[in-house]
Amino acid sequence: MPVVIRTLRQTVCQVLQSTACRCRKAALPGLFPGPSPWQLPADANFHSASFSETDQPRVLITGGLGQLGVGLANFLRKRFGKDNVILSDIRKPSDHIFRSGPFIYSDILDYKNLRETVVNHRITWLLHYSALLSAVGEANVSLARAVNITGLHNILDVATEHNLRLFVPSTIGAFGPTSPRDPTPDLCTQRPRTIYGVSKVHAELMGEYYHYRYGLDFRCLRYPGIISADSQPGGGTTDYAVQIFHDAVKNGKFECNLKANTRLPMMYIDDCIRATLEVMEAPAESLSMRTYNVNAMSFSPEELAQEVLKHVPEFQITYNVDSVRQAIADSWPMNFDDSNARKDWRWKHDFDLPELVTTMLNFHGFDTRVAQAN
Ligand SMILES: NC(=O)c1ccc[n+]([C@@H]2O[C@H](COP(=O)([O-])OP(=O)(O)OC[C@H]3O[C@@H](n4cnc5c(N)ncnc54)[C@H](O)[C@@H]3O)[C@@H](O)[C@H]2O)c1
Repeated sequence: MPVVIRTLRQTVCQVLQSTACRCRKAALPGLFPGPSPWQLPADANFHSASFSETDQPRVLITGGLGQLGVGLANFLRKRFGKDNVILSDIRKPSDHIFRSGPFIYSDILDYKNLRETVVNHRITWLLHYSALLSAVGEANVSLARAVNITGLHNILDVATEHNLRLFVPSTIGAFGPTSPRDPTPDLCTQRPRTIYGVSKVHAELMGEYYHYRYGLDFRCLRYPGIISADSQPGGGTTDYAVQIFHDAVKNGKFECNLKANTRLPMMYIDDCIRATLEVMEAPAESLSMRTYNVNAMSFSPEELAQEVLKHVPEFQITYNVDSVRQAIADSWPMNFDDSNARKDWRWKHDFDLPELVTTMLNFHGFDTRVAQAN
């Protein structure tokens, strides 16, 4: 081997070894963890008490007043105790949410505020839900860039600094038109064309980088479109699959902003929340990767309408296509391959399309048994 290359190699090895020595956390074999940019020197070990696996986690949910956060908090509170799960957002909570458990103001763009929250509440798990979703993000790219990218950097740093277990949801939107779409595997080309998708690929890669570089316990699921009964969607491309139930029950008709045959992966919120807890509780050694696809079903607006019709015989669907949302949907997976999640931590969905439709209509007060009998 030429001397120059050998010398260079030795220097690189020395640098990497000295970096590894300074790291407080156990490293993964063969990787090179070092201190996070926010970690304090070795004499500042008082900074964060480590989380014992026997303790209940102390959970912070950012962006918790969106479509998914409140349901997640309720679920985790039943498991870990009401006071161990703190919901946060920059919006004002309703009286009901405020009374149902701890809520605090937390802006993910304010690092000092985030750090104070983590320290004062002795947080050990951080579930990072703040984001601008696909359609809203395209309407305000600079805010989406700030919240979804700069905000994520704050989250990664505070989680690394305080040895937190960090969950960041990703999305089918992290894929693009050059990704295989039917089905889309975990590892393939990811060239999304929305700021939302770009920011989520960034989150996946940065989280994995922090995991390998600093030992951060980063866990990420790529959710499909999530359908919930008791919370409003936040401006995503799959929102139609929530709105259709409200309108079917209220008016017996629905105007869809995607084409009839636009097939996308979807999941009922109970499955989404359970998947999140399961991956958070999975033993580290069972995780062969840190970012997993999860899926439950895949359908188009016309297939969903057919299923609704079985319960609401007078139901009518019409189409008035929104070109921005349609272009986004046409670049997204039609079907999601989640076989790695099913193999590694035994992911299994409960809700398929018929079950989803019955549950959603029942929630909105529609008696599906009567309708079926008619
Ligand atoms: N809902 C879905 O179908 C879906 C699908 C895939 C992935 N996800 C992901 O799940 C997460 C939650 O989704 P959601 O549907 O609940 O989103 P949402 O848009 O309904 O809620 C996002 C929340 O983030 C908050 N937020 C915005 N800026 C903030 C800031 N600076 N600091 C703190 N909070 C801020 C908003 O106030 C809002 O309550 C997001 O990361 C999203 O990308 C959602």
